[in-house]
Amino acid sequence: MMNNELQPPGDMSPEEFRRYGHQIVDWIADYLGTVEQYPVLAQVEPGQVRRQLPADPPQAPESIDAMLEDFKNILLPGITHWNHPAFYAYFSISASGPGILGELLTAALNTNGMLWRTSPASTELEQLTLDWLRQMMGLSPDFKGIINDTASISSFLAIAAAREALDLDVRSKGLAGRPELPRLRVYITDQTHSSVEKAAMALGIGQEGVRKIPTDADFRMEVQALRAAIAEDQAAGWRPFFIAATIGTTSTTSSDPVPEIVPIAREHGLWLHVDAAYGGVVAIIPQRRQVLAGVDEADSFVTNPHKWLFTPIDLSAFYIKEPRYLQRAFSLVPAYLETQDGDVTNYMDWGVQLGRRFRALKLWMVMRYFGQQGLAAQIEYHIQLAQQLAAWIDADPSFERLAPAPMSTVCFRYRPAGWRMKRFWNG
Ligand SMILES: Cc1ncc(COP(=O)(O)O)c(C=O)c1O
Repeated sequence: MMNNELQPPGDMSPEEFRRYGHQIVDWIADYLGTVEQYPVLAQVEPGQVRRQLPADPPQAPESIDAMLEDFKNILLPGITHWNHPAFYAYFSISASGPGILGELLTAALNTNGMLWRTSPASTELEQLTLDWLRQMMGLSPDFKGIINDTASISSFLAIAAAREALDLDVRSKGLAGRPELPRLRVYITDQTHSSVEKAAMALGIGQEGVRKIPTDADFRMEVQALRAAIAEDQAAGWRPFFIAATIGTTSTTSSDPVPEIVPIAREHGLWLHVDAAYGGVVAIIPQRRQVLAGVDEADSFVTNPHKWLFTPIDLSAFYIKEPRYLQRAFSLVPAYLETQDGDVTNYMDWGVQLGRRFRALKLWMVMRYFGQQGLAAQIEYHIQLAQQLAAWIDADPSFERLAPAPMSTVCFRYRPAGWRMKRFWNG
């Protein structure tokens, strides 16, 4: 008898998944417990990892055991261990157990939260966790949130919304070939993260449309210089429309004086965006809420739980007072994405991407596992460690501190007595 019924090739069986799943979770638990035994930096030359792996794609099935062998022997030596306690480059990643477990569940559910309908819990948990985070930071309920992959994208959305608020109809007409439009100007400082300038490049503002305001001795925006720059630009025919202030700059963790920038933005009708990608979560400590002074008056705000809130990369929390500008800029609903769900949030309307991972789950688990008290205690501990280090540096004449240390970063250099001289004599 001929069997014409199609048979699915099938996935890994649940039993096999369970077996390898346990094995991998055991490996992760051991890794997290012993990560300090690895060298922080990858021990490979360029191309070394790739050379050890077959150039041709696998044709026949392979075992998970074989993959885990390669993972340990070939990939791990090529990993720079951001989890290592001695990782001091950049703002380190602060993943935690509950966050990693949240990632696992997200991958298992494999939902796509582009519309409320495509996974209601995904959208509603995103709204809820971002509202919890907002409350923890003591920010105004006027801010509505969306989770993005990175602060770079969050700042991109901020500029896009601000440009839309100008009513220039860029959405349909674009910017090119329109001599009637003024040239648009964005204000940042010489300390602002490059992502803001890059967003301006991507949005047709151009690098020439980005004006860098100087900073003072403590690396904070010179407010008088901002005021003067706006006046000068207006007189020269530019259209100022966007200010990016930073709380916790990348190089020194300085913060721009947001309360002084707010009235300037108001007076000239400029959009004020606050990039607190790293530093915003300091406000979770009730006694340190002042760090976000003035932010309630901003139009948009970003902080990255994947930087300093124990959430595995990636997760950037973007807040905006008027999401309608994002929707005006980006909502485009073809027939195959139409739904009849009434007054719901469809996050695909708030940005460029359609498909969206269920990122909120890991943040929700982190927030519930530690609670605001636990999160505040961790961040406060990091700040105290930095203050201790800063005090040691200040007390040692061989070291020089180069900036205030209000958060968990300390900028310093080794400068033993006679160092310059020695170097000079050695040629
Ligand atoms: C102040 C600030 N803004 C933005 C970013 C960019 O973050 P992301 O990698 O999430 O785009 C960084 C990265 O360190 C940062 O320090």
